[in-house]
Amino acid sequence: MIQRGLHVAAIMDGNGRWATARGLPRRAGHRAGARAVRRVVEGAPALGIGELTLFAFSSDNWQRPLTETSALLRLLEGYLRGEAPRCVAEGVRVRMIGRRDRLPAGLSAAIAGVESATATGTHLALNIAIDYSSRRAMELGERVRDVDLLIRTGGEQRLSDFLLWECAWAEFWFTPVRWPDFGVAELAAAVREYGCRERRFGGPPAAAGPAVPGVSA
Ligand code: IPE
Ligand code: IPE
Ligand code: MG
Repeated sequence: MIQRGLHVAAIMDGNGRWATARGLPRRAGHRAGARAVRRVVEGAPALGIGELTLFAFSSDNWQRPLTETSALLRLLEGYLRGEAPRCVAEGVRVRMIGRRDRLPAGLSAAIAGVESATATGTHLALNIAIDYSSRRAMELGERVRDVDLLIRTGGEQRLSDFLLWECAWAEFWFTPVRWPDFGVAELAAAVREYGCRERRFGGPPAAAGPAVPGVSA
């Protein structure tokens, strides 16, 4: 059994702008983004995170030039192959969410390999969304656990078809920090702020008085 703990989801955005700002090709931003993923996966359990869902490639990202999508998918394959032993050692259970039927064969094999190698991990559940569309997942009834905290880097404040169902009661945390610059300090800041929020799920504020003054519930 995976320990409970927070379910944090992240829209890892801003890789391209990070690279462009440095005069680098966009794929350099994606490479730096992969290093940020490693930092966040390593740092998550100590912050009380039991499940982490990362948006790596959306079904809408196929609209990008082939050079970028193939670089991205190759990078993902390399990441999954390279990180598998570390995930096994650290008890990270990796699962992919999204469409599997349009991926390059090498990436599909890497996904199957890391999923089976890490299946018994109990320290952290890591879901990686690849060729993912939340609307499609909802149609198929494919879901992950409800999200507690949704993080989006890169400055945009939208869901871009990520975990629409699971974010029904999520707390949102947006930052202008671009994903390649994101690390454990930023993750800790998000979790700290989450801890200060009051989740009401439609109920009254915890400190609220009676609905009618003088009448207790
Ligand atoms: C996020 O960074 C990674 C993916 C969407 C795959 P972007 O590539 O969207 O970077 P920006 O938003 O253009 O800076
Ligand atoms: C969302 O970022 C998808 C991922 C982070 C994988 P995008 O950059 O694709 O989203 P939009 O187009 O700005 O909404
Ligand atoms: Mg983007």
